[in-house]
Amino acid sequence: MLRCWLCRLCFLAFVFLAKGVFPANGQTLTHRTVSIDEGWRFHLGDASDPARDFGYGLETIFSKSGKAGGTAIDARFNDSAWDPVRLPHDWAETLPFVPSDNFDVASHGFKPIGGRFPQTSIGWYRRHLAVPASDSGARFVLQFDGIFRDARIWINGFYLGRNESGYLGASYDITDYLDFHHDNVLVVRVDATQYEGWFYEGAGIYRHAWLHTYQPVYIPSDGLFIHAEVAEPPAAPAPGGLATTAVSAPGTPTSSVAIVHVETTVIGNRFVTDTCTVVTCLTTREGRRIGAPVYTPVALAPGGLAATQATAQATAQATARVPTARLWSPDDPYLYRATVLIMQDGKVIDSTTQRFGIKTVRLDAEKGLFLNGTHLEIKGVDCHQDHAGVGSAVPDALQYYRVRLLKAMGVNAYRTAHAAPTPELLDACDSLGLLVLDENRLLNSSPEYLDQWERLIRRDRSRACVFLWSIGNEEGHIQTRATGRRIAETLIQRQRLLDPTRTCTYAADLPDVYQGVNEVIPVRGFNYRQFAVADYHRDHPGQPIIGTEMGSTVTTRGFYNPDPVTGAFRVDSARGYLPDQDISAPWWASRAETWWTLAAAQPWWMGGFVWTGFDYRGEPTPFAWPVIHSHFGLMDDCGFPKNIYYYYQSWWTNREVLHISPHWNWKGREGQPIAVWVNSNADQVELRLNGKSLGEKAMPRNGHLEWTVPFAPGRLEAIAHKGSQKFKTAVETTGAPYRIVLEPDTNAITADGKDALVVNVHVVDQQGREVPDAQNLIHFALNGAPARFIGAGNGDPTSHEPDQYPAGGWQRHLFNGKCQVILQAAGGSTAASGPTITVRAEADGLQPAEVTIRTGP
Ligand code: GAL
Repeated sequence: MLRCWLCRLCFLAFVFLAKGVFPANGQTLTHRTVSIDEGWRFHLGDASDPARDFGYGLETIFSKSGKAGGTAIDARFNDSAWDPVRLPHDWAETLPFVPSDNFDVASHGFKPIGGRFPQTSIGWYRRHLAVPASDSGARFVLQFDGIFRDARIWINGFYLGRNESGYLGASYDITDYLDFHHDNVLVVRVDATQYEGWFYEGAGIYRHAWLHTYQPVYIPSDGLFIHAEVAEPPAAPAPGGLATTAVSAPGTPTSSVAIVHVETTVIGNRFVTDTCTVVTCLTTREGRRIGAPVYTPVALAPGGLAATQATAQATAQATARVPTARLWSPDDPYLYRATVLIMQDGKVIDSTTQRFGIKTVRLDAEKGLFLNGTHLEIKGVDCHQDHAGVGSAVPDALQYYRVRLLKAMGVNAYRTAHAAPTPELLDACDSLGLLVLDENRLLNSSPEYLDQWERLIRRDRSRACVFLWSIGNEEGHIQTRATGRRIAETLIQRQRLLDPTRTCTYAADLPDVYQGVNEVIPVRGFNYRQFAVADYHRDHPGQPIIGTEMGSTVTTRGFYNPDPVTGAFRVDSARGYLPDQDISAPWWASRAETWWTLAAAQPWWMGGFVWTGFDYRGEPTPFAWPVIHSHFGLMDDCGFPKNIYYYYQSWWTNREVLHISPHWNWKGREGQPIAVWVNSNADQVELRLNGKSLGEKAMPRNGHLEWTVPFAPGRLEAIAHKGSQKFKTAVETTGAPYRIVLEPDTNAITADGKDALVVNVHVVDQQGREVPDAQNLIHFALNGAPARFIGAGNGDPTSHEPDQYPAGGWQRHLFNGKCQVILQAAGGSTAASGPTITVRAEADGLQPAEVTIRTGP
């Protein structure tokens, strides 16, 4: 009988699946997850003056439960004068730059955040929350994905808890405090007076927030651990039939049988022994059912608020077979689905669907890394999380935008330097195919930090993209000491316990040194010190090696300052610009060619991560104020490629890459020499100026070519030969800027207040040629359906122009020919204003541009 109703209900669930109407990842049939990003009000508090901190510290709020009178925590507090904001929100982004010679202020991008700025480092958020009486039997769990930092959270004056981490989210069961007949008031006090890093970190509720409504027995949001056992397939043949370091062709390889384990945590909240059945079903990406559902009976001991009490938790183990597994890889990021239902008294009381990938990763100290049986060199980048215009409050669409840019360069891996990433970044890496080195913030095994490490692993261990954990980065005080070794051992053990399917590394800025963390870490991570990697491998041949931070040439996009006598490019220290070529790196780092030539030659060197994929705010190395951004990016902070992008693209992809730099607009320098660089993966390249050959040269593998060319206006052309293929590119001397060009990354946007669209801007001359040295001020306007700009940038590391114009009047200078605006379409009806948005750009003396974007639900 029991079997019978289970089958019927499962059949219904599978009908949903087959029709493709089953809710997407993380959503459920029977619980609701709603975004609470909208409807917040925000005000700065004050860390130095309780009176200006809405009474916090003046009133006694912890003496009686729910006592909050005299503070902004009190539900009756009038917040109508506070600013309306929506999440994600980074208030640091909106603050002015402040000059400083303090290291921490400089490294955080000269924003007035931190202990020196008590008046701008506390943020208060309030939001009203209505919960219908019809839901009064349910459980309600509030989830914040990330708040920078040290957040204290209340509802209706009741203290829920404190989340110190600026990077990991936290959840709170709020059921006991809810009022079903009046608005509930949620209050968050964010204290950013302590930094966690030495780079721009933002401030505020800069990731999403959610309200889950569950039945009393439910699966929490990180409740599934999905992992697979699968035999490593034979190595895919390389073109030409050799064992390969090339990336495999799309769609391959498959493996025979994968055994998929789905471990489901079930939480109960009743003071009775709850029994239920967990039903686990796998489907393909297309919704085809794989095998039979698996039924696991579960008994939950009586418990209280189970999110914090292990007694009311149970884990259901299910094992299912995938007969011919299609393996996940950066080239073929194929994701299966696991749907898990909880059934009780004949009803489905909770269900969730989660994507997962099946892959094999083998780390061999002699032979390097094997993904799905095929040798793979890690062609990775380290990244911080901020983007031009929006700071740390990055819309989900921008995560995908950035991942696409990286993939186009040939990147196959991403290190989340130096903390837990936003979940939506991992969604993008899962979907688009980037391996992820997922990094812990601090090398510390105290209860607080062990808890942060555990939360990171539990949150991300079912991710297809995560291939390795990092326990920390450059802990100079302890990394060579016994303390460092002992902490590392504790973190490694905890990782093995929570995720036996992976291993971990640690990013050490040490040469051939084995003491401390390196003695126990399973995979030796090198930050720089590429010259010492071979010695270390010789001395410790059993330990796999990966470059956790490599390269790190400092450059400024589109900046060249040729010496009038030699043509060589020079630094402009006054403006904080470095030549846009692979010329100089800080003393601890190296040029791109230096490290990559070494790493590419050794199978045991698993490749590495370049510091960094994108420029980021802060760390203006090698400069100080007024320079506010880093220079390490292969792209600037808007994602516009620098020349070094083409170096990596040449050697990290099989595409025909041919790129000339600099531009050819050198009016006034006629006859003076200019250093010309060509990046390509061709065999031979010939350079021609105005049709006249300047000679043909063989391209050194993993290198580039240079010519010194006396400037004459006209056309500088490169002609490349690769095997039997011939391809060309050219730069031309342009006329003056004439017309603006707008390039949206797509032509449609969802009108939900969340989706985002990037519009890149440049100008062309009368003949339609892009003018690479244009610096015009561009003004922007929006017409049509309700929409708003959310940020503007141009990649200039010394620009102090605002990134946001809340009162309107959006504008930005082009920096070396380019700038960017990012927009969102408002939710709600667009009937009155039509279904399209028009972005208009104007500038003095230039032809304006307009582009039309479709909006939809
Ligand atoms: C490394 C560090 C990074 C960044 C970089 C700048 O030592 O791990 O976070 O600071 O240096 O070169």
